[in-house]
Amino acid sequence: MDVQAGGEGRFGATVRGFDPATASDDDFAALKNSVYEHKIVILKGQSLAPAEFVEMGRRMGRVEAYYEPMYHHPDEPDIFVSSNVSDGDKKVGVPKTGKFWHADYQFMPKPFGLTLIYPQVIPAKNRGTYYIDMTEAAQRLSEGLKQSLSGTRSLFSVRRYFKIRPSDVYRPLGEVNEEVERKTPTIAHPTFFRHPVTGATVLYNSEGFTVGIEDADGKSLDDGILHQVLKETGQLDMTFQAPGIHLVSPEQGDLLVWDNRALIHRALHTTTPEPTVSYRVTVHDEFPFHDDKPL
Ligand SMILES: [Fe+2]
Repeated sequence: MDVQAGGEGRFGATVRGFDPATASDDDFAALKNSVYEHKIVILKGQSLAPAEFVEMGRRMGRVEAYYEPMYHHPDEPDIFVSSNVSDGDKKVGVPKTGKFWHADYQFMPKPFGLTLIYPQVIPAKNRGTYYIDMTEAAQRLSEGLKQSLSGTRSLFSVRRYFKIRPSDVYRPLGEVNEEVERKTPTIAHPTFFRHPVTGATVLYNSEGFTVGIEDADGKSLDDGILHQVLKETGQLDMTFQAPGIHLVSPEQGDLLVWDNRALIHRALHTTTPEPTVSYRVTVHDEFPFHDDKPL
């Protein structure tokens, strides 16, 4: 396994010569360490069948299938399919997923530590995903904002980005909303927590899923503070030129593994009607997501 830091626009690391079929447990441990160190690792030259991709995830921890079945791969429900391509009459996966800043499963009580993305059909134009390293962003915050956020918890909900399912057609919106609130009630995570592997302070907040911030007594902070967090971290910059925003544009055969504690991401969807298909496997590593102690 050859790890090169600073690949793909000096963000993350590029790994050549990693074959999941022959990799030892030590190789997988080394790969995971590279992910925690570099935040994102791009494995080059991969050629995996869906079942092999899931198996790779299992070698890294406990795979969790997405809670909404409409995203599942028809043969491998542990694969989440993002796709704008129809398979004959059959629609597989969901188009235009994740076009907003978020960490995966941030609205769940127990998010997973690792996200694996394996692009299948890559558009020629406007391809890729934007990332912000929220350990770096935590350090860059203005002192006043750091103090306002100290010891707080942030509140998360999927409500603004929950996608209407085919089975929701003709259902009253209020009933769908009620179901979303019942199945995925608003939950809290520390606004700052210590990364269980690297020890870095993570600023756990996103434009997509954070819906409020509360102090240690459960009192809501002014909405202007959340707005300031989003602004200072670059999440409101629609030119994506803010310092700390990195674009990773994969090539055929790339498989991306990233630290879903440290990074938030936002899909860049092609503006041209080009087919795009991507597979995702999500993995709980052996560490608690956080220790639930706000910093
Ligand atoms: Fe995502």
